[in-house]
Amino acid sequence: SVTDSGPPVLESRSIEAVAKYIKENDVNRVVLMVGAGISTSAGIPDFRSPDTGLYANLAFLDLEEPEDVFDIGFFRQNPKPFYALAHELYPGRYRPTIAHSFIKLLYDKGMLLKHFTQNIDCLERQAGVPGEKIIEAHGSFASQRCIECKKPYPNDLMKQMVGTRKVPCCDCGGYVKPDIVFFGEALPRSFFDSMPQVAEADLCIVMGTSLMVQPFASLPQHVGRRVPRVLINMQKVGGFGSRADDVMLLGECDAGVRKFAKAMGWGDELEALWEAT
Ligand code: APR
Repeated sequence: SVTDSGPPVLESRSIEAVAKYIKENDVNRVVLMVGAGISTSAGIPDFRSPDTGLYANLAFLDLEEPEDVFDIGFFRQNPKPFYALAHELYPGRYRPTIAHSFIKLLYDKGMLLKHFTQNIDCLERQAGVPGEKIIEAHGSFASQRCIECKKPYPNDLMKQMVGTRKVPCCDCGGYVKPDIVFFGEALPRSFFDSMPQVAEADLCIVMGTSLMVQPFASLPQHVGRRVPRVLINMQKVGGFGSRADDVMLLGECDAGVRKFAKAMGWGDELEALWEAT
């Protein structure tokens, strides 16, 4: 209804109007929600893009349902498909994209309140965003443990096993799984503890996600009614456009963050930051 959203905060649904809003209101509590689309230009496939997405290419792993690769029940029966994928996705082989550097730039300018990511590639950390600013809602490869006795498994041994396409096992005989959130598993406590900060934000930026997986997909709805939301994505997702102050840059994430930085007068600074990454 008009009352709770009131007249638009932005002069227009343009990134220039967002830049003006940022400057005039000294915006410094930005929350971001991102997905695999910010890492595709680094060479990491996303999940659902028709031809290039992982789910379209996992057929080689003869899975009934592509999402079985992240199903805990399936993993307990057969961990091989997941470890074939882990060998491809394991952090350390990819360079962050300019979209990751844009997040770091927001942090450098004291504007980053919290960065929510669904990605398990740790590229935000690699781009220099401090860990305490990041919520890895679907976990990451940063640690691993036995799925039966829960005993942690050493990082160096894990890296070696994944590198040689072997399945790491615990002394108890259970399979070892990285602390990635599989379908059917709970999200980390930190995700739920950080949700109130979404309501405190004075700007929300959503990038590179289909917003198909709950509860992450509901985060943008918790943004205050009078707070602009910017979507940078190939296509419109998650009910974006329903609010008077939704702004959409539809297209490549890298092009979108360059357009955003240019509107802020940060163009050269962003390129230099990314060059140094
Ligand atoms: N620029 C802009 N948008 C892009 C780009 C790009 N270079 N590459 C991909 N996209 C868009 C796609 O069009 C799609 O809308 O990013 C979105 C990626 O969506 P998904 O492949 O569904 O990835 P994501 O949203 O991160 O998936 C969420 O699903 O399988 C689970 O746990 C897994 O975290 C993952 C979750």
